[in-house]
Amino acid sequence: MQITLKNPLDMHLHLRDGAMLDAVAPFSAKSFVAAVIMPNLTPPIDSLESAKAYKQSIVDSIHSYAKAHKQPLESLAFEPLCALYITDSLTPKVLESCANSGFKLLKLYPKGATTNSDNGIAQVMDSKMRALFSVAQDQGMILCIHGESGGFVLEREMEFGVVLRELATSFPRLKIIVEHLSDHRTIPLLEEYDNLYATLTLHHITLDLNDVAGGMLCHHHFCKPVLKTPKDKQALLELALNAHKKVSFGSDSAPHSLESKQKGAAGIFSAPALLPQLAELFDKHNALHNLQAFVSDNAMRIYELACWVEAAKSWEKSPKLITLEKSPSKIPESIPCLDSSLRPLRAGEMIAWREV
Ligand code: NCD
Ligand code: ZN
Repeated sequence: MQITLKNPLDMHLHLRDGAMLDAVAPFSAKSFVAAVIMPNLTPPIDSLESAKAYKQSIVDSIHSYAKAHKQPLESLAFEPLCALYITDSLTPKVLESCANSGFKLLKLYPKGATTNSDNGIAQVMDSKMRALFSVAQDQGMILCIHGESGGFVLEREMEFGVVLRELATSFPRLKIIVEHLSDHRTIPLLEEYDNLYATLTLHHITLDLNDVAGGMLCHHHFCKPVLKTPKDKQALLELALNAHKKVSFGSDSAPHSLESKQKGAAGIFSAPALLPQLAELFDKHNALHNLQAFVSDNAMRIYELACWVEAAKSWEKSPKLITLEKSPSKIPESIPCLDSSLRPLRAGEMIAWREV
């Protein structure tokens, strides 16, 4: 059995920079036509200049890979949609210039919520932030949010709901994306507010807290927001399998070296073999007919990519086609990176599908 996906999109991806970028970017470039690239680098991507330079470094990295591995550039056609990190130094003027240059995605990290969020925002709804959101709304920008409070770890997303409600009602024309939805109690907000959407990761729809702390501690499954209960996992899985119109796929693939993982860094590196794992999952639940909507069509519509991404204008006419086949493949044990390595999700496991 085979299926062919048209223009797969990963709407939440960490590619990092330097040697790690070179090690991980080819996985996404092979399987996806575009991805939303997270800006939590050191220093953060929070200006038009840094966003342009970061985008160029991603393109250069993929080009060097293609050259070194003698692969045709078309097979690695990949559009990095670089998001801007909302820091205290971001002004309405900078926002306007970014929007005019095609950088329409904003990423809001509450200060201290996750990896490299020290430059995030302490008071999300203060007057300065409201002024920024108002400009973002007028410019047709999209606000991607790491929606967690600073409270008890299992209640953080639920507690952040108050802020989401206030944002959604105060800025009704601003599209707001709740990144890596992890808690079933957030789902009613998507139904209630027209301008609230979400991304879903592979790990939050397939794993729960038992996979982190139910047996021997598994730091490879430690991420933010933390994996939650079986009930949360099930509710999120159903959203994905039904390709609920308010959700898109965003892997949140977040590579860290083995040493950093051992020290407790949050993040799951899922980029190798994302599409085969999704095909396996959707096949198991007789939902393969919804996979195209979940990994591409929903995001095209929600983010209106064809309206503001130059490259997207040609995707309908000459799509990137990824064929998946129901035949066993093995997820790599580890991916070398400088003098260390990266461990992918389900490292070394056999899965039922492969990318052709
Ligand atoms: C991400 C990272 O490592 O940058 N970590 C994670 O656990 N998901 C940051 C994030 O998306 O929260
Ligand atoms: Zn992330």
